[in-house]
Amino acid sequence: MKLIAPSVLSADFGHLADDLEMINRSDADWLHVDVMDGTFVPNISFGFPLMKPFKQYCTKPLDVHLMIVHPEKYVERFCDAGAWSVGFHLEAVEDPLPILDLIKAKGVRTCLTINPDIDVKRLVPYLDKVDMILLMSVFAGFGGQKFIPETMDKIRFIKAEIERRGLPTLIEIDGGVNTDNAAELFAAGADVLVAGSAVFGAKDPEEAIRKMKS
Ligand code: DX5
Ligand code: ZN
Repeated sequence: MKLIAPSVLSADFGHLADDLEMINRSDADWLHVDVMDGTFVPNISFGFPLMKPFKQYCTKPLDVHLMIVHPEKYVERFCDAGAWSVGFHLEAVEDPLPILDLIKAKGVRTCLTINPDIDVKRLVPYLDKVDMILLMSVFAGFGGQKFIPETMDKIRFIKAEIERRGLPTLIEIDGGVNTDNAAELFAAGADVLVAGSAVFGAKDPEEAIRKMKS
């Protein structure tokens, strides 16, 4: 699969509806929603109040990426707020399974995420228990960082494991994705690419999305 999920973190929040209309018109597949709590990551983005305009103005599925401690306290509220997929970090919790169950009980897709310093092998036991895994290709917390090249081998490793077991699990990559590395990422086995600054910072964001997909 070759999907693009622009990260609304890089949108112009003073003209949010315009940016969301651009996403609606574009070939983007999902809208990636980055929630940061200032504790799990050294930055604060936004929370529930913005789920409303995202839901109201964006026709694309909302792919929620929680960069928060205690996701078990909040995943159901994000489901109720209209998330299409809810992901949280493996390293933020003791046992992801009951939290995945909370999301599944809401009929929402699940995603498990790791930062670049977490051993990718830790995801292996969960590959058949989630709809998607998200490999961070920068340290979670900020848009506009440089892609970490070691991510490539991690994608190939996880892709091989998913294929060996015949699983439908998707691989999403987040951080430093742009029109230059998108093709290589898809070729390595990525299914979904998140792109913030490379979309909203582009002169022609719709063209940037098209380029990444092709
Ligand atoms: C980083 C976020 C990313 C970020 C990506 O913590 O999870 O989704 O918005 O931004 P770019 O594409 O600019 O690296
Ligand atoms: Zn993200």
